[in-house]
Amino acid sequence: MKGVVLAGGLGTRLYPLTYATNKHLLPVYNRPMVFYPVQTLVNAGIKEILLVVSGPHSGDFIHVLKNGKEFGINHLEYAYQEKPDGGIADALSLAEDFADGGPLAVILGDNTTDTDVSQAVKSFKEGAVVFLKKVSDPTRFGIAEFDPKDPKKIIGIEEKPKKPKSEYAVTGLYIYDNAVFDYIRKCDPNYAGRGELEITQVNNFYIDDGKMRWEELDGYWLDAGTYDTLLRANLYWAKKAGFTS
Ligand code: G1P
Repeated sequence: MKGVVLAGGLGTRLYPLTYATNKHLLPVYNRPMVFYPVQTLVNAGIKEILLVVSGPHSGDFIHVLKNGKEFGINHLEYAYQEKPDGGIADALSLAEDFADGGPLAVILGDNTTDTDVSQAVKSFKEGAVVFLKKVSDPTRFGIAEFDPKDPKKIIGIEEKPKKPKSEYAVTGLYIYDNAVFDYIRKCDPNYAGRGELEITQVNNFYIDDGKMRWEELDGYWLDAGTYDTLLRANLYWAKKAGFTS
């Protein structure tokens, strides 16, 4: 399977840190943030990766990832999203040619995890898979809703709900078959009121068509999109590397 890392956006929640560089190039302990999602895909056996970038610091990614050889990537491709605030689904739409009719493992460039998803990648056949994680701050994420009669059945996802229907966040790690590009074409930029093509709408299309599965992410997972989570991600990876203060 091929993989996509979505590393666009302006990182406005991290201003002033992101005035001078892209969010995904900020340090997480001893590595640029984007190294972690790339490594997650590589650990899952993926050797062909597309990195989608956008915004004023797009050219800087090539300095740190180069041609991907250091990661053991056979083919590293870059795509440029014209609207940095176009949303995750808009960024993913750029992967259509790269996917070449096949499925894709997709990860957001600010998600760091030590979970091994190689089994899910190997066994994937069709539809979509989302990876869920129990969180203490569910108003910050896309949150899963389950069928009260069948608590294992996901019946919807709400983007940043004021009254979350569960504690299970949809992490920024997904597997999609090629139908994802047709679903993206049906997305409405006003879906969640922020003018973006939302990945949550794409996921809800899959759910409505009965083609979505979910797995719980075991182990550590964080998105590093805010000051607090960026700090927590730094502390986690520093500790894991043996750092003690
Ligand atoms: C995005 C998705 C959200 C998901 C989160 C995970 O949020 O829209 O559904 O839970 O990533 O990192 P954003 O970072 O765009 O606010």
